[in-house]
Amino acid sequence: MNVFEALRQDHEVQRDLLDRLEDTQGAEELRKQNYAMLKDELSQHAAAEEKCFYAQLMSVDLTQEKARHSVAEHKDMDDLVEELSDIEYSSPQWLQKFKELKHMVTHHLDEEEQEVFQMAGKALTDKQKEDLGKQYRNEMERHRKAS
Ligand SMILES: [Fe+2]
Ligand SMILES: [Fe+2]
Repeated sequence: MNVFEALRQDHEVQRDLLDRLEDTQGAEELRKQNYAMLKDELSQHAAAEEKCFYAQLMSVDLTQEKARHSVAEHKDMDDLVEELSDIEYSSPQWLQKFKELKHMVTHHLDEEEQEVFQMAGKALTDKQKEDLGKQYRNEMERHRKAS
């Protein structure tokens, strides 16, 4: 599995959680559980992605700007998660804020898959794509075991 396939696989996990959360209401367990999972997925994925993918892309002229942009978006998503976490699950504002987050995350994932991966495809060798994929998956496994 190369790095693009590995990242895409976890993007699907995020999309799935986002869809499920949009159908939840009030302070129900399902909302709490899925949101806890989403928060973990977002932060662990961003950390591993920065370490195993963007760090490499930062060192290549072709992809440096895109990499910086994506890492800045990770920070924006993180800030929005903080805001959402401060809102009571039972508040009507929760879903409103959640929809902002969903919009932001979906945009980020689409941009990575459609623009970043394409450029990275040119910047990385086949060997790097395989090695980074392996590193990323190891990193995620390490995080998942620890959490
Ligand atoms: Fe990302
Ligand atoms: Fe990603």
